[in-house]
Amino acid sequence: MFIFADTADTKILAELYETGLIDGVTTNPSIIAKSGREIIDVIEEIADMIKGPISAEVTATEYMDMVKEGMKLASIASNVAIKLPLTIDGLKATRVFADSEIMTNVTLCFSVSQALLAAKAGATFVSPFIGRLDDTGVDGMQLIRDIRKMYDMYQIDTSILSASIRSVEHVNQAALAGTDCATLPPQIFLDMFKHDLTDKGLEIFAADWAKTGQSIL
Ligand code: E4P
Repeated sequence: MFIFADTADTKILAELYETGLIDGVTTNPSIIAKSGREIIDVIEEIADMIKGPISAEVTATEYMDMVKEGMKLASIASNVAIKLPLTIDGLKATRVFADSEIMTNVTLCFSVSQALLAAKAGATFVSPFIGRLDDTGVDGMQLIRDIRKMYDMYQIDTSILSASIRSVEHVNQAALAGTDCATLPPQIFLDMFKHDLTDKGLEIFAADWAKTGQSIL
């Protein structure tokens, strides 16, 4: 399972990337707005740092404009995945990029039917939004399980990129549901390392070790 960082904060991203555990990056218009920077500059800087897929989202709503924006974003680096919304225009544009062997990430997916359409359009990734479904009272994680089941049933190779993740428990459950990737806000990634018993275990080992008076080096 691949772990992507859901951020355009290049300083934080550099720190996370140093762990060697970050496989890619996702952004969206809100994340770019939060960075306060120009999208082209941010994606260029991320592409200088990260070898894996970097999702950069178009903002146009018409098919031809989406293609133009996407082509510009794709020209930044070969590992840029064009993020397109799950609309008729978005999926028409997805087909254009797929035929040009440019990676795509079809975003704002909230149903199995939408995931099927994204796959038929040739999407590299589909992004079901777990947290935003939970917000409406629908179990977002069930959508991951259902898309997994459907994709396996029809041997579809579009990767499921679990998005809108709000907790480590979301990561746990998405992993168990068989997601291909999950994109995590930086703090959720850092929270994945934490467990009270890990901290407690370290304290006990340190105390016992101190009693021995030994040193490995
Ligand atoms: C990433 O691809 C998505 O745009 C992001 O995970 C959405 O997260 P949010 O629902 O917390 O804004």
